Amino acid sequence: KKAKCFSDIHYDIGKIDDKMYSSFTEHLGRSIYTGIYEPGHPNADEDGYRKDVMELVKELGVPVIRYPGGNFVSCYDWHDGIGPKEKRPKRMDYAWSSIETNQFGIDEFCQWAEKVGIEPMIAVNLGTGSIKDAGDLVEYCNHPGGTYWSDLRAQNGHPEPYNIKYWCLGNEMEGSWQAGHLSAEDYTKKALEAAKIMRWVDPSIKLVACGSSYEMLPTYMEWDRTMLTDLYNQVDYLSTHNYTMNSGQGTTNYLASYKQLDSHIKNSAKVIEYVKAKNHFDKDLKICLDEWNVWNFQDIKLDSLDDLMGLTTFEMTSAGKWEIAPPILQEKYSLLDAVVVGGLGISLLNNADTVEIACLAQLINVIAPITTIPGGGIFKQAIYHPFHMLSKYGHGTVKKAIVDAPKYQCDLGELNVVEPAVIYNEENDEVRIFVLNCDQEEDVEFEVDLQGYGDKKVKKHLVLAGNDYSVMNTIEHPDAVEMEEKEVTAANSVVLPKMSWNVIVLG
Ligand code: AHR
Repeated sequence: KKAKCFSDIHYDIGKIDDKMYSSFTEHLGRSIYTGIYEPGHPNADEDGYRKDVMELVKELGVPVIRYPGGNFVSCYDWHDGIGPKEKRPKRMDYAWSSIETNQFGIDEFCQWAEKVGIEPMIAVNLGTGSIKDAGDLVEYCNHPGGTYWSDLRAQNGHPEPYNIKYWCLGNEMEGSWQAGHLSAEDYTKKALEAAKIMRWVDPSIKLVACGSSYEMLPTYMEWDRTMLTDLYNQVDYLSTHNYTMNSGQGTTNYLASYKQLDSHIKNSAKVIEYVKAKNHFDKDLKICLDEWNVWNFQDIKLDSLDDLMGLTTFEMTSAGKWEIAPPILQEKYSLLDAVVVGGLGISLLNNADTVEIACLAQLINVIAPITTIPGGGIFKQAIYHPFHMLSKYGHGTVKKAIVDAPKYQCDLGELNVVEPAVIYNEENDEVRIFVLNCDQEEDVEFEVDLQGYGDKKVKKHLVLAGNDYSVMNTIEHPDAVEMEEKEVTAANSVVLPKMSWNVIVLG
């Protein structure tokens, strides 16, 4: 098969913000404890942070990490996680029916963030928490000193403020699974008052409002319209979440998941535009897709996402109740999942005009690209590789691309067998193309027709493909799935192997 991709340098989609390659870590399962933090581990530093984890997080090139949840944040009292560790209380975490030891809190996260070189994005509890708690947390983190909470931070060993810029006003507040779930009207009132106090404490912060995430909820989009009508001018981003699941829809549909993410993002963009137009607002609001990934719910038996909606969070994992850092949501990703994650990355890029922040959910052990063994080693899950390639090569301006290619039919309609995202990297004068070949039977010869970019030839071609799409990386076989570098043979075309995700660099 053959496909041709046309791109003209004059037609932009949008400049890619580096925050497109952000991530998320929650107090959930082994994400923090025995993930980030494992005192006594042979590879832990003097503060108990695993150095092997820090190295991989640095290599992944993640600029911002969202913390501490997730569903967890709606049950969390941040005061429990500060001060002398021996005095911190053990609490029931209702979100994941686990015990939270509070040995890791906001100071530890900020200290770890500094060591790793990432910027924290903090979610406040608008479920069971109060607007005063939210204001106090901004004061604790960002006020220079001379007040109760800022002085307590200094007393706890951190005289300099953390100056945290990005703050999420709660998490998935539209969902009944959320502790302290609110109606759109009640969330609007609470978020508005929290935003007011948080900005009084520090006017420089950027705020993310909870948009709706789950398309099967009856409030989908209507929540956003109601909430944004009052919150639009008080916030900087609209949040949404999107998880892709291989749930028996068949490989053809699963590979086409990028299209579902594309419409999900466009729905959020449309509701922003609607509220802006209806109310004659001036400013633009960007999207913060602060949770996205493949999540196959391997912990439990599910036939479809509809089944999931009937579950309480207590039923969402296989763990016994009230364990400390139980091994839950430890998804094992296959080569097929990795190809799909690469496809989702293409949709993120093709929406660079509206998406400014996107967080791969999550980072370590829990639906994550990095897996650690308690007391032992570490390995990269299959999805690590496409995400790493996106964060490494996905910088510059996304350009419009028109594709002339064979079509195929799936549940989302008729689609091209290839789906590209074309980027012009101004710094290196390179064209970088991420492209998915959804054809399961045949390789596709992919020709690039560039206008106005100067004389560019293919100089690199990296491929994610294989013979067995169920293969997974493990601690014993950590490189079973990895990117393969192909020999470059033609100036303006490459062969995309069947069912593959590709990185092409032209310079
Ligand atoms: O990332 C896992 C969970 O998914 C988060 O806690 C929640 O926000 C989402 O539903």
